[in-house]
Amino acid sequence: MIEGLSVRERDQLTETARASAANAYAPYSKFRVGAAVLAERGIYTGTNVENASFGLSLCAERSALAAAVAAGDRKIRAVAIACIDASRESPLGARMPCGACRQWLAELAPDALIVIAGASQEYSTAELLPNPFTLG
Ligand code: THU
Repeated sequence: MIEGLSVRERDQLTETARASAANAYAPYSKFRVGAAVLAERGIYTGTNVENASFGLSLCAERSALAAAVAAGDRKIRAVAIACIDASRESPLGARMPCGACRQWLAELAPDALIVIAGASQEYSTAELLPNPFTLG
């Protein structure tokens, strides 16, 4: 199990996810999401990138995880997610990672702490996706 985050690290990661969301390419949904992955050597960011062929849209979490993998920095300690267009009154579900992103988290960040901006608690990857699909 990877050790926990300091309050400062958590706040910085959440702020980075929020800032990344401002770069989202979300002309169709107008729902901007940012993600920040804290790995051994640094922080990797991602945003949602939509496409006119809607099913091809990429979520912020997978975009950030791919950046960490591309950098060869695969020991992931934490992932922060910020849905900056979710209104204050919207239910928690409007801020949580989708099923596909949970499957990516299970594979690439199985021991990570998942920090959701605006949520009152943090999650482990296993809490978000118990018994994920695996091969072998
Ligand atoms: N989205 C994410 O970036 N992450 C999720 O976990 C859920 C949804 C994006 C996809 C799409 O661009 C927009 O939010 C609305 O669904």
